[in-house]
Amino acid sequence: MKKIALTGIKPTGTLHIGNYVGAIKPALELSKDYDARYFIADYHALNTVRDPRELAANIRHVAAGWLAAGLDPERVIFYRQSAVPETFELSTMLMAFTAKGLMNRAHAYKAAAQENRNRGNDPDAGINMGLFTYPVLMAADILLFDSDVVPVGSDQAQHIEMAQDIARSVNFTYTAKTLKVPNALVRSEAAVVPGLDGRKMSKSYGNTIPLFAPEKELRALVMRIVTNSQPVSEPKEPETSQIYQLYRLFAAPEERDDLARRYLAGGMGWGDAKEELFHVMRRELSPLRERFEAVISDPNHVDDLLARGAAKARVIAKETLRRLRHAVGITAGGGGT
Ligand code: ADP
Ligand code: TRP
Repeated sequence: MKKIALTGIKPTGTLHIGNYVGAIKPALELSKDYDARYFIADYHALNTVRDPRELAANIRHVAAGWLAAGLDPERVIFYRQSAVPETFELSTMLMAFTAKGLMNRAHAYKAAAQENRNRGNDPDAGINMGLFTYPVLMAADILLFDSDVVPVGSDQAQHIEMAQDIARSVNFTYTAKTLKVPNALVRSEAAVVPGLDGRKMSKSYGNTIPLFAPEKELRALVMRIVTNSQPVSEPKEPETSQIYQLYRLFAAPEERDDLARRYLAGGMGWGDAKEELFHVMRRELSPLRERFEAVISDPNHVDDLLARGAAKARVIAKETLRRLRHAVGITAGGGGT
């Protein structure tokens, strides 16, 4: 039997090339060898996105993005978190096994509380229970499907450790096999995509290249990538150049080596390097954008695919919950199952 891989993306905005290269592409690669369950973590997004139209549009955008990138809904169970209500029952159950102290130690919560202190505010200002209990909902997403591996960026590694802790606490109370203890599959830091300003590409830094930017915009953004003032004639170090870091992600191995050689030889200006980067990005992203536009133009089809995925997911989820309810003694009519 194949092992199970599961991951989710929060629909908190539109996709950028960091999301594509860092999360979507490797997850799709993994789906060749695993039974994959990939989902849109819409209830996680509700902690921060409060405009209903924006949230609804983001959900469809992220779903269409996965499909355009090549997710095959016949092979991957693809769904919205909100369409699998068993997630929320499991989340409630897991609350009883989650130490409050564990949540106090979560990086995202600690950072928000620290930020408040730095500003002289009450440490809990603006922090909702959705943020505080975020790792429990995430543990429910994972444990509901007996996941073996959870592909994530390194920022999420702590959340997977918490899911392990929670699963172990349940297993310690009942039997060792009540819940499968998952493992993180943390992507290498080499896959961190730099943004226009050289920091990690992220919505929160406003330094992104949107994944589905029209060609004109893509070119204009590539031209805006920050460079230093080295003259054309000077040899340049590929490893410290954002342009090269991005180029690597889209170029064939021979192209990569060739550009590195020309950097080191000198005589290559940043403007030329940017043109070459635009060329390889356009080559990969144009067909992707065309597929995205075709998919998003038929939102009913996207909704239908997600609904069919949710139906498949619920068959598995109901079985896990039946097992757990039985294990803890919450059974229909108070008697046996
Ligand atoms: P953002 O930082 O723009 O808010 P998210 O936190 O929504 O992005 O990220 C969604 C997924 O994309 C996560 O799995 C994350 O690890 C990945 N990701 C985001 N930005 C990058 C990046 N610059 N390089 C590699 N992966 C990234
Ligand atoms: N917290 C993840 C992120 O911000 C998204 C997510 C929600 C997730 N539930 C998950 C990832 C379950 C993996 C497994 O990127």
